[in-house]
Amino acid sequence: MSQQTTVSAEQLRAQFGDMSLVAAMNHGREKRAYTHTFGCQQNEADTETIRGMLAEMGYQMTDSPEHADFILFNTCAVREHAEDRAFGNIGALSHLKKQRPDVIIALCGCMAQQEKNVEKIKKSYPQVSLLFGTHALWRFPSLLRRVLTGEKRVFDIGGADDIAEGLPVLRGEGPKAWLSIMYGCNNFCTYCIVPYVRGRERSRRPEEIEAELRELTREGYKDITLLGQNVNSYGKDLGLEIDFSDLLRRLNDVPGDFLLRFMTSHPKDASRKLIDTMAACSKVAKQLHLPVQSGSDAVLSRMNRRYTAGEYRELIRYAREEIPEIVLSSDIIVGFPGETEADFEETLRLTQEIEYDLLFTFLYSKRSGTPAASYEDPATSAEKQARFERLLRAQDEIVARRQAAYQGKTLRLLVDGESKNPDYPFTARTEGNLLVCVRGEDIVVGSFIEAEIEKTSLRCLYAQKR
Ligand code: 5AD
Ligand code: SF4
Repeated sequence: MSQQTTVSAEQLRAQFGDMSLVAAMNHGREKRAYTHTFGCQQNEADTETIRGMLAEMGYQMTDSPEHADFILFNTCAVREHAEDRAFGNIGALSHLKKQRPDVIIALCGCMAQQEKNVEKIKKSYPQVSLLFGTHALWRFPSLLRRVLTGEKRVFDIGGADDIAEGLPVLRGEGPKAWLSIMYGCNNFCTYCIVPYVRGRERSRRPEEIEAELRELTREGYKDITLLGQNVNSYGKDLGLEIDFSDLLRRLNDVPGDFLLRFMTSHPKDASRKLIDTMAACSKVAKQLHLPVQSGSDAVLSRMNRRYTAGEYRELIRYAREEIPEIVLSSDIIVGFPGETEADFEETLRLTQEIEYDLLFTFLYSKRSGTPAASYEDPATSAEKQARFERLLRAQDEIVARRQAAYQGKTLRLLVDGESKNPDYPFTARTEGNLLVCVRGEDIVVGSFIEAEIEKTSLRCLYAQKR
């Protein structure tokens, strides 16, 4: 039985009514909107939906908050640093609000879904007149209308774990697009705030996802990333005979010249079937982001990750065997409560064995309300920092080696923008999503080209179009 709930057509019609009402209110005066996104790709995708709604309401987008009538911060709560930056940004706008009291400052996203932050905004940030959580995203037009019609401050952090289909999206320039396939997370890793702010897992119906992919390919997008907190549990809530690998096969059959990527995968749910599907599907990029978080079984168990380092290694071994050219990346948390020097050494050993092409390393950040916040945490920040730096140094050596191995190779690249380097004026991505700066005749953004790698650095490959 499907447990999925979708926002009803009537509710959405009312929303579209609200959008045209705001557009009518704005009539004759050009209104500008500025958005700033913190955090992950899911937030970036949500901002694109909000920008789509703003455009429907007659707003022009601007890159400068000083010239905006509406300013929105889409926030992240995953680490304290992201929260501090958001508060800093909002604080810095108090003078603007004094100069131009009509400007509307809004806050949404994961931080806005947390009671403690809402209280802080209510008390100490009077310049914020609209705040809405991740579950109220689709209600944005009616919330904005309430502010525009004179309500002093509107706060909405309510709402069910549902899905709203059919909202407009304003995507960025270039050939890349996000495509959300599911929302929420059921895993409750003990360090992570996401399940508390984004709710339970819910999957979009495959026909909706396929229709959006077809639309994206018609519009010319060529590098499409399927998004979800844990894409490998796609479909479990749908009551249909479909899992993530089946979805990938279905999307791979959509006609057109494009690449499909996906993130994020959870090692406990990523299977050999997934690897086999990647190997068999020509449009699925040979790239896997598979966050390991730690190489120590004791730490993995306290993180509630539900796999062992051995199981993880085995899956990676299988992936490399089936897809030798696969590009691998991972996330690692250093300094999880109770992590010993020996635990850390195991993480270091695992990364040196696997040799990721790309590694995202984070110092553990305590999130109140999560189980790990109450775990004993005897290591000092200096010890944690030293581990963090050791890991970075080790990874830099690995990346230098792996990047150098591309020298002289000819690869298929997707040109995705212009670079700041006059010698290599375009940026491109390999199928594995490695960054390349390219030069050559007749290069067009959005096209696939063949290019030879001439030199390499830690961050970038340099190539000549053939
Ligand atoms: N502290 C540090 N890093 C965290 N992540 C999630 N929660 C925390 C936290 N409390 C990291 C994980 C995850 C990535 C998106 O952010 O590595 O995979
Ligand atoms: Fe957070 Fe774990 Fe869910 Fe990822 S899988 S969002 S780390 S709880």
